[in-house]
Amino acid sequence: MAATSSNQQITFPAGFIWGAATAAYQIEGAVEEDGRGESIWDTFCRVPGAVANGDNGDVACDHYHRFQEDIDLMSSLGIQAYRFSIAWPRILPEGIGKVNTTGLDFYDRLVDALLAKEIVPFVTLYHWDLPQALQDRGGWPNREIVEAFVNYTDVVTRRLGDRILHWSTHNEPFCIAWLGYGVGIHAPGLRDFQAAFQTAHHLLLSHGLAVPVIRTNGNSNTKVGIVVNPTWADPVTDSPEDRAAAMTFMAFQNRWFLDPLFSGIYPDSVLAMDGQHEPRITDGDMRAIAAPLDFLGINYYNRAVVGADDSDGPFPVRFYRPEGEYTEMDWEVYAPGIYNLLLWIQEQYAPTTVYITENGAAFRDEQSADGKIADYRRQVFLQDYIGQVDRAIQAGVPVRGYFVWSLLDNFEWSHGYTKRFGITHVDFRTLERTPKQSAEWYAQVIKQNGFSRAQS
Ligand code: FCB
Repeated sequence: MAATSSNQQITFPAGFIWGAATAAYQIEGAVEEDGRGESIWDTFCRVPGAVANGDNGDVACDHYHRFQEDIDLMSSLGIQAYRFSIAWPRILPEGIGKVNTTGLDFYDRLVDALLAKEIVPFVTLYHWDLPQALQDRGGWPNREIVEAFVNYTDVVTRRLGDRILHWSTHNEPFCIAWLGYGVGIHAPGLRDFQAAFQTAHHLLLSHGLAVPVIRTNGNSNTKVGIVVNPTWADPVTDSPEDRAAAMTFMAFQNRWFLDPLFSGIYPDSVLAMDGQHEPRITDGDMRAIAAPLDFLGINYYNRAVVGADDSDGPFPVRFYRPEGEYTEMDWEVYAPGIYNLLLWIQEQYAPTTVYITENGAAFRDEQSADGKIADYRRQVFLQDYIGQVDRAIQAGVPVRGYFVWSLLDNFEWSHGYTKRFGITHVDFRTLERTPKQSAEWYAQVIKQNGFSRAQS
């Protein structure tokens, strides 16, 4: 019998929020304008070999000057919410002390322009661009930074807390601690495990202490959360050793952050595994970290496939690279991972509201002679992952919104401009924006609050 095909309609719950995400250093440019101080990414970009092609965020997408055009673009696509971050060095050029009101004015204009188009701002306070002056005082491993972050939060939320109702403290504490301070592939480029564990603790503590400040400066509709990047790990075989390795990996990347946020404790399994680099914790820290959250933001890109590693290293996990499709980041395309992760998080922590604060893919997009970018693989990627988010919602996970990473091609950290994640193409010579086919597709998804896909 010939295979028949039909269309399956996927419809999201009423009120589901469709958004797009960016981060300050990746798009703003204007690094020396209007009193902005230096960030650790300005410094890191000058380290020979640290960033592909010696690229930096000096101009990036020039969003600082073109934000109105970007908002118009979002509006034309029907995007309902915009997740962006605030550059700490624009607000406090030295990290602490003197406030640069011109920096606050920029975000004030941005927020008003978004609201004028009925786009809901979702703001991240810290998306990796630490003022260099604070790094010079030791950066995240130095406990003084906790007070500095809470003070920065206070300054920003006093000014914008009347109009921004969705706040996240940090973006991906795992990456800040491990990529920045543990293995050194992100700013500030340190390779020190003790510093990484201490950084993670100070990020969580500064988050917990900032939560009540955000609430005080907001109103009864203010929602506060944090954005994490937990990964789903599958064991490479069904053996007990490989299954244990998958649990170890998820403990290290996921539990280390989620256990304290939801229950005020660090997982024993990670403390036992490492043994030597336990962070210094002061009385009251863990209670502060577990401040109740209004939502959990999850950034999800790829799963890990792992097995036992019997070499004597501190981290007894080996990574495998299964056959399959990979993005330009060499990240495996495997949509069920987001479903598995969402169910695991719900079972373990039961957050009341979840947002997918980032999801997307870098592909080698080709611009045809007529200027169009037919990024079909990105479209399929998004459709498959969003389909799995729908499955998770059907299974009871309270996902209330989805933000595609990213609105624009942008500065992809140590990869510079070589990896394009945007649903909008940016010509980095002319700075011209061109929505890709995936943007047109996403606009339809938003309009229909879902999509239909062919089933065979
Ligand atoms: C995440 C970051 C984001 C972007 C994507 C691809 O880890 O939060 O800034 O670089 O990866």
